[in-house]
Amino acid sequence: MKTVLVLYYSRFGHTARIARRIWETVIAEGNQADLMCVMEADREGVDWNKYDLVIAGCPVIYGKFSRQFVGFVNKYKAVLDAKANSFFCSSVVARTPAKATPEGNVYCRKFLANNPWKPKDAKCFAGKVDYPNWSWYDVKAIQMIMKMTKGPTDPTAVIDYTDWAQVEEYARHCLELTA
Ligand SMILES: Cc1cc2nc3c(=O)[nH]c(=O)nc-3n(C[C@H](O)[C@H](O)[C@H](O)COP(=O)(O)O)c2cc1C
Repeated sequence: MKTVLVLYYSRFGHTARIARRIWETVIAEGNQADLMCVMEADREGVDWNKYDLVIAGCPVIYGKFSRQFVGFVNKYKAVLDAKANSFFCSSVVARTPAKATPEGNVYCRKFLANNPWKPKDAKCFAGKVDYPNWSWYDVKAIQMIMKMTKGPTDPTAVIDYTDWAQVEEYARHCLELTA
């Protein structure tokens, strides 16, 4: 049995759903797991000694990973380096298979190349388009990106691009990362 921390940042809730599915899968496989958002982890502290494996995820928002997420994983770089770990990201560009790999996804590739904390494993998930729940400004900006990448621009569109079976498969894969 392994003890796993699933850590995430989520701006609009979708990466939180992915993290929750990973956490549920890890538990369903007979392990112990905690689920924490980075703000909670930062403020409340983490009992790192408990965990064999840390799985940490963040969405791409305007080409970037959140300051809170990046700040947190870099602050605890040494602790993370000492454990099995994996990083996952969610973005709408990953709806295209070529952009759903750590090498093909420009955001993930840059993160792996430039970020001080270097995850030992990485995964890109296709995220969610949720125009009705986004601000006017965000809708206009994403519609522009979608026009360029031949994606949906209908302002009423709500499209979950995440392959949930793949999320569960990823959770099982992460369990194999521990020695
Ligand atoms: C304001 C905003 C900016 C976004 N910027 C990007 C982007 O630059 N590239 C991309 O592929 N997806 C982008 N997305 C899509 C998100 O990565 C996707 O919706 C993700 O699932 C959101 O996760 P969250 O609900 O956990 O915040 C953006 C979404 C929003 C609302």
